[in-house]
Amino acid sequence: MKKVLLLGANGQLGSDIKKVFKEDIELICLTRKNFDIAQDEISKLNKYSNIDYIVNTTSYHKTDECEDFPDKSFKVNSSFVYQLAKYSNENDITLFHISTDYVFDGMANEPYKEEDTPNPLNIYGLSKYSGEIAIQNYTKKFFIFRVSSLFGESGASGKGGNFVETMINLAKKDVPLSIISNQYMSPTHTLDIAKAIHYFIKNEIQDFGIFHCCNTGNCSWYEFTAKIFELTEINYPISKTTYEEYKTKALRPKYSVLCNSKINKYYKMPHWEIALKEYTNIKHRKI
Ligand SMILES: NC(=O)c1ccc[n+]([C@@H]2O[C@H](COP(=O)([O-])OP(=O)(O)OC[C@H]3O[C@@H](n4cnc5c(N)ncnc54)[C@H](OP(=O)(O)O)[C@@H]3O)[C@@H](O)[C@H]2O)c1
Repeated sequence: MKKVLLLGANGQLGSDIKKVFKEDIELICLTRKNFDIAQDEISKLNKYSNIDYIVNTTSYHKTDECEDFPDKSFKVNSSFVYQLAKYSNENDITLFHISTDYVFDGMANEPYKEEDTPNPLNIYGLSKYSGEIAIQNYTKKFFIFRVSSLFGESGASGKGGNFVETMINLAKKDVPLSIISNQYMSPTHTLDIAKAIHYFIKNEIQDFGIFHCCNTGNCSWYEFTAKIFELTEINYPISKTTYEEYKTKALRPKYSVLCNSKINKYYKMPHWEIALKEYTNIKHRKI
């Protein structure tokens, strides 16, 4: 049986990995409590023996906040990842690492492929890209899964929820909603990423490298919000704003749609509307 060390086990993606990895894989779950990646020595992992895979879902990813705390961003998203890459290589462990669509600058007009050149616009993206480079240069057996715009049952602990729940809560509180209609991305259910990682491990896929692991299709944040309300039967008005009008501290890519045809050859990622329906069925059965 494969032995897997999961970092970030209480996070949004980590929680779905725990759901998907059942008796067929031995999963050792680490949280900040038993291994603080910003403080603890990497050698603390030595107490776990015969590990086949490490899955790293940890991150500092409050995008606007990262602008004010570049040191912390690089510590968590780059320096630690460099240590982890070296550790994995020295111990012949295959490393699964989660990265982001924010490594791209959004200037493309067709979905980004794995071989497209990153050009991050913000500290978060830059620190994640630096982590990617460390992995590629310091370990041989690795998978970097770039994911985007996540929604999962537990909500992102690092962001205090996810976009779907934020929209539902704002509508319930009757807060006026003005949503960007000209910024495009690939919304992705963490349950599907968890299933893809599980497939790769169970089938001992050896095609190491970068994969874009997102749900199929894309939409604007406005279209995404409209679909959220449709599926949860919330009748609430949404007005449109633009990328240019909606100012945030950190610049974000205007277009960060990822092409997932490479991963689809191994594991078919469902369309985001199917994924969102599955999510709302799990999370909002009673609505
Ligand atoms: N959420 C998105 O929309 C999105 C988009 C693109 C890429 N991603 C990437 O996807 C991955 C998973 O995201 P997610 O939504 O599952 O995030 P999440 O729920 O915030 O999970 C991240 C995990 O990292 C842990 N962590 C953070 N700092 C730590 C530290 N110093 N020591 C130990 N653990 C620490 C957190 O622990 P605590 O629970 O104790 O804080 C949390 O369990 C991340 O790599 C992120 O960069 C996310």
